[in-house]
Amino acid sequence: MSTVFLNGAYVPKAEAKVSVDDRGFLLSDGVYEVTPFYEGVPFGLDRHLARLAHGLSWMRIDVDVRMFEEIAHRLLGENGLDTAERSYAYLQVTRGAAPRTHYFPKEPVEPTIYAFATQWKRPSADVWNRGFAAITVPDRRWTRVDIKTICLLPNVLAFQAALDAGADDAILVRDGVALEGAHQNFWGVFDGVAVTHPATNLILPGITRGVVLEIAREQGVRVQERAIAVEELVAADELFFTGTTGEVRPCVLVDGRPVGDGRVGPVTRMLSDAFLARVERAKEMAGAATS
Ligand code: PDD
Repeated sequence: MSTVFLNGAYVPKAEAKVSVDDRGFLLSDGVYEVTPFYEGVPFGLDRHLARLAHGLSWMRIDVDVRMFEEIAHRLLGENGLDTAERSYAYLQVTRGAAPRTHYFPKEPVEPTIYAFATQWKRPSADVWNRGFAAITVPDRRWTRVDIKTICLLPNVLAFQAALDAGADDAILVRDGVALEGAHQNFWGVFDGVAVTHPATNLILPGITRGVVLEIAREQGVRVQERAIAVEELVAADELFFTGTTGEVRPCVLVDGRPVGDGRVGPVTRMLSDAFLARVERAKEMAGAATS
């Protein structure tokens, strides 16, 4: 039985109870964050907390996100994940429990704060080297998806459509633009230039995306933050996704058509290797700091 955090207490998951009046349950009135840990070492924690703080402030929910670091470490410890190769801490904050209204509760209520930690696995080298398939689907989300709210129904439907089609992810398309995946950011490589959508209101500003942008620049790969038209996909040399649990993930098939030569491309491979090297460096630095 895993231990989770709910409203200040660490409790067995089966004992964690949330009110049916919770505004997250009734109205999706909340935000969340997913922070990766490698052998117990957080990766990009400050950036994840900054994004969460921004989301909370935008939602006008008053919670100090600095408490989350301690909660995450304690959850990893309590659940034996300190040494897990890959794990993540999930944190969700909702506006709290109050009689259902379309406006904020008249009387202030405590936000509901829930967190858990779990393991995840990188696909095997064989699977990664074969690459992943995606389908394009219309983006049915609202136009503030830069805020990481728990309203994920369009993402769920898009991802399920991909699975139903035998693919691994969906590429969300709005007004002819391939924006991002159902839970990952999306990139193309065109004549050696790595392209990804600018961080506007139409995509989530992924932390992995930000790290990969830095890595690409460091490695001398030219980058462009611009919209990728869906018609361009057939002409892409490479396509890939980035995200917390996907890391850098090659996309070799879109709507049944091979991307480039249908194999994982050199830019994707190089950025993935450099990303993993950065993770190793973060682990070494954390080790050096504690020894
Ligand atoms: N998803 N785009 C969307 C729509 C996402 O949901 C995510 C993350 C990303 C990648 O962001 P990051 O690199 O910060 O993980 C892009 C998380 C992991 C989830 O919902 O589980």
